[in-house]
Amino acid sequence: MRTQVGIVGAGPAGLMLSHLLARAGIDSVIVEARSRSYVEARIRAGVIENWAADLLAETGVGARMQREGLVHEGIEIGLNGERRRIDFKRLTGRGIMVYGQHEVVKDLIEARLAAGGKIEFEISDTSVHDFDGDAPKIRYKKNGEAREIACDFIAGCDGFHGICRPSIPNGVLTEYDRIYPFGWLGILSQSPPPSHELIYSYTERGFGLYSMRSSSVSRLYLQCAPDEDIEKWPDDRVWKELKARLGPGGDKLLQEGKVLEKGVTAMRSFVVEPMQVGRLYLAGDAAHIVPPTGAKGMNLAIADVLFFSRALAEFYRSGKTALLEGYSKKCLSRVWKAQRFSWWMTSMLHLNPADSPFDRRRQWAELDYVTTSEAASKSLAENYVGLPIA
Ligand code: FAD
Ligand code: DHB
Repeated sequence: MRTQVGIVGAGPAGLMLSHLLARAGIDSVIVEARSRSYVEARIRAGVIENWAADLLAETGVGARMQREGLVHEGIEIGLNGERRRIDFKRLTGRGIMVYGQHEVVKDLIEARLAAGGKIEFEISDTSVHDFDGDAPKIRYKKNGEAREIACDFIAGCDGFHGICRPSIPNGVLTEYDRIYPFGWLGILSQSPPPSHELIYSYTERGFGLYSMRSSSVSRLYLQCAPDEDIEKWPDDRVWKELKARLGPGGDKLLQEGKVLEKGVTAMRSFVVEPMQVGRLYLAGDAAHIVPPTGAKGMNLAIADVLFFSRALAEFYRSGKTALLEGYSKKCLSRVWKAQRFSWWMTSMLHLNPADSPFDRRRQWAELDYVTTSEAASKSLAENYVGLPIA
């Protein structure tokens, strides 16, 4: 099979790239290890930055998001139960879209297939070849049969555990890594959220996040150990802790419901530089991971592929390679700002077992400052709704 851009991975990065390329008249094929139903059911991120929601809408894949998604104009930060609001709309003129990542994935798959786009699901043994020249190839197996895609460029959109990044020869990439001494235990529940906006709650018992997918489905998280044993968290214990981390009166605020999903995620910050080698370009989690506290993971994936699609459009239109050559630099400038913000939100809101009493007092002062100072809350707000995309 031959195409212009061979894409590994049908997460938000790979699907959005294929969608943007099709709009620029560029042909692509996506290969995906999992089944369509698996990727459509994988519960992950929930917050879409303002510009990214606009991009989905402007490029024709935002109709359901605009109907079913929730536009939020602020968040609440809890300080041992005292909730203080950060008013994004007043501070930045913008809001955010709360809409599940798996819904974005569903919408993109539907749009690609309806437009005749090619996605090969349930493939195995993926490998990438010859990206140091101008005729790279993706090899894989489908139903046990070996197949090959010959292409001009390979997009490595295969997430943190994919094969594209590890296929780059040793010594080419520099890795920047930070592992946090905590994780999140998350549930999806058939019950209304405690507030109509997200609550990021700092307490002396640890951090809790109260998010949602609709007015009747909540997405709730508890800070836990990075290797927390989920078996030790029957639903009753999860609800008790979630209520406690809302602060006094939390038991009345939080309604229990049927737990639809439960899982533990470890937290890490990770970046590789550069994000491109020859004709292999990494995008999204394949190149960088952020801890989820800043809600940036999916948004960065979408930003990367927007930049890559523009560079490819320029190349196919005019033969110019300037944007392709600048891809990594362009992405990394945004990635590192999101890394800084995600690290900062994570450090400010979680209890770090290594912290001293001095650190705790300083942390409290920071929360107090950020929720009372116009300048500090504006800085949080402009990063949370998404820095301008140029
Ligand atoms: P992915 O969504 O990981 O997509 C990569 C795709 O490549 C997958 O479909 C995978 O099956 C496929 N693939 C992998 N290897 C191969 C192969 N060898 N061949 C073919 N296909 C392959 N962010 C937040 O902001 N908030 C959250 O609450 C949050 N929760 C998360 C929970 C979990 C468990 C994880 C893993 C991530 C979470 N994130 C969260 C981060 C966010 O979901 C990611 O940043 C986002 O999914 C990145 O999109 P992507 O397309 O780059 O990668
Ligand atoms: C959600 C996840 C996040 O990591 C976050 O910061 C906010 C919301 C969510 O899943 O709804």
